[in-house]
Amino acid sequence: MSIASLGYIGFEVSDIGTWQSYMENFLGLMRGAEGNGCEAYRMDDRAARIFLLHGERDDVAVLGLEVQTATALETVKANLEKKKIAYTQGDAALKIRRHVVDLICLQDPAGLDVEIYYGATELTNQPFNSPAGVSRFCTGDQGAGHVVLASPDMDRIRAFYVEALGFSLSDTIGMKLGPDFSITLEFYHCNQRHHTLALAGMPASRRLHHFMVEMATLDDVGFALDRIGACGVRQKTTLGKHTNDQMISFYAETPSGFDVEVGYAGIPVHDESWRVTHHEAASMWGHKPVST
Ligand SMILES: [Fe+2]
Repeated sequence: MSIASLGYIGFEVSDIGTWQSYMENFLGLMRGAEGNGCEAYRMDDRAARIFLLHGERDDVAVLGLEVQTATALETVKANLEKKKIAYTQGDAALKIRRHVVDLICLQDPAGLDVEIYYGATELTNQPFNSPAGVSRFCTGDQGAGHVVLASPDMDRIRAFYVEALGFSLSDTIGMKLGPDFSITLEFYHCNQRHHTLALAGMPASRRLHHFMVEMATLDDVGFALDRIGACGVRQKTTLGKHTNDQMISFYAETPSGFDVEVGYAGIPVHDESWRVTHHEAASMWGHKPVST
């Protein structure tokens, strides 16, 4: 396995003021460094787990994929060269903005910026302190969370993440979205997090369907639900439990229109014993639409 985790996610957002409040007061992330039209938010000791980039796209702008060492980054580069996938070396200014020692930049087949890096800055001298009182975000070896991407050309996208970057299939979910319209969601892991990446084979107006942050306790998720009203956030679903990763979570809309999943207790994947399975529903219970 070459990619160790989804280390950071960058969103290009048009309403930065509303996002700032959303991140701090609703999700409970801690504001970090800012500059050059980019603001970092913290979920743990790391200097940055989510970046807000000023712009008009209101979509995911970059995935930061972490490898463990400089040697691992060289291995990834060699594999990309073998597969004739172009990349560029990140410059000094970008390394500073991303708080990493070294990185390379490339794009997935649908044009999403992907940065592969090692050497993230840890600020153990400035301990993480959630402004909304979240006890802890589950990050560490499992990374920042997960993203679900609309991916019209599944064959090329799958080849990029699986063959070039080493993601492994966890399972699939078949979903009937209408009388004559079904899709299969594919869930991929690169560490013990059940899925770091899910691919939905469908066209969409934006690439990101949702991102997920995992909190340490059910109480953290319950308190986040309780903050919805006071924070003026639109709840998209009730609390529910997913069939595949068994995450207990709810969904809410972000100021950019894509969703966030706030969850806890996702099951880990152990490669030695894991068996790929298929599910016919996304949720065991709950996750019912909330009309507002
Ligand atoms: Fe999710």
